[in-house]
Amino acid sequence: MAANLARRLEGKVAIITGAASGIGEASARLFSRHGAKVVIADIQDDLAHKICEDLGPSSTTFVHCDVTKEKDLENVVNIVADKYGKLDIMYNNAGITGAVKSNILDNEKSEFEKIIGINLVGTFLGIKQAARVMVPRGQGSIINTGSVSSSIGGVCPHAYTSSKHGILGLTRNTAVDLGRYGIRVNCVSPYSVLTAAALDTLKKMGKEGSEIYSTLNGAKLTPNDVAETAVFLASDESKYVSGQDFIIDGGFTIENPGLSMFK
Ligand SMILES: NC(=O)c1ccc[n+]([C@@H]2O[C@H](COP(=O)([O-])OP(=O)(O)OC[C@H]3O[C@@H](n4cnc5c(N)ncnc54)[C@H](O)[C@@H]3O)[C@@H](O)[C@H]2O)c1
Repeated sequence: MAANLARRLEGKVAIITGAASGIGEASARLFSRHGAKVVIADIQDDLAHKICEDLGPSSTTFVHCDVTKEKDLENVVNIVADKYGKLDIMYNNAGITGAVKSNILDNEKSEFEKIIGINLVGTFLGIKQAARVMVPRGQGSIINTGSVSSSIGGVCPHAYTSSKHGILGLTRNTAVDLGRYGIRVNCVSPYSVLTAAALDTLKKMGKEGSEIYSTLNGAKLTPNDVAETAVFLASDESKYVSGQDFIIDGGFTIENPGLSMFK
C-alpha cells in the first residue's frame, strides 16, 4: 500500500512536451520516479538525451518534436501507441515567453503569431493528437501548462498573455468535448518559477527574482512544485477533476496588494 502511494503513476504512459528543461524536465523526472514511462517531446535533442540517460532507457525515451508541426505530434503519439499500446497522460508544456515589449506599438505581428503558434496552436495540436488515441480507450488525462497570465493581465507580454488565456479557454472547451469519452483536461498555471528562461525574461523587464511578490512569506516556487501538481492531475487521485485551472501562485492572484489591509 505504501509502495503504491509512493509510485502514483505506476503503469502509466506519458508524453511531456518541452521536457528537455525547466518545468517539463522536473515533471519528466518526477513522473518517472512515480513509475510512469515518460516520452520527452522537445526540440533540444542533446538536453533531452541527457535526461534519458539519467533516468534510464526503460523508463524514459526522447522523440524530436516541434509542437508547431502537426506531423511531429502525430509521429510522437504514433510511436508511443506502437511501443506501449496506449497513452494515459499528455502534458502539453512546451512554451516560450517571447520578446518583452510592453508597448503594443512595438509588437510585431510575426512575433505575436510565433508565440501563439508555439504556446496555443502547439497545445491544440497536442490535445488533438492525444485525443486520437485516448478516445477509443475512453480514458486519459491531458494537462496543459497555463500561467497566472491565463487569468490576469499586466504580468507578461501581450502575445504570451493572449496565448495563455487561449490555453485556458481551450482547456475548458476540450474538457467538455473529451469529457464525453471519459478524458480529463486541466490546466496547471504557475506564477514565476525561477528557471533560466524566467530569470532572463525578468531581467529584460528590469526585475530580479528577489522582487517576486506573493502572499506567502519566504516560499519560493520551484519547477518541482509545478511537477507535483502535474503528478496529481495525471494520477487517478484527481479522477473527478476536469476543466480546472490549477493556479500555483502563493496567493498572488487573489490579493489586490494596492488595497490590502494586511501590510
Ligand atoms: N518559468 C516560469 O516562470 C513559468 C511561469 C508560468 C508558466 N510557464 C510555462 O511553463 C512552460 C515551461 O516553461 P519553462 O519555464 O520550464 O521554460 P524552459 O525554457 O526551461 O522550457 C521550455 C521547453 O520548451 C521547449 N520548446 C520550445 N519551443 C518548442 C517547440 N516549438 N516544440 C517543442 N518544444 C519546444 C524548449 O526546448 C524547452 O525545453 C511554458 O509553457 C511556460 O510558458 C513558465
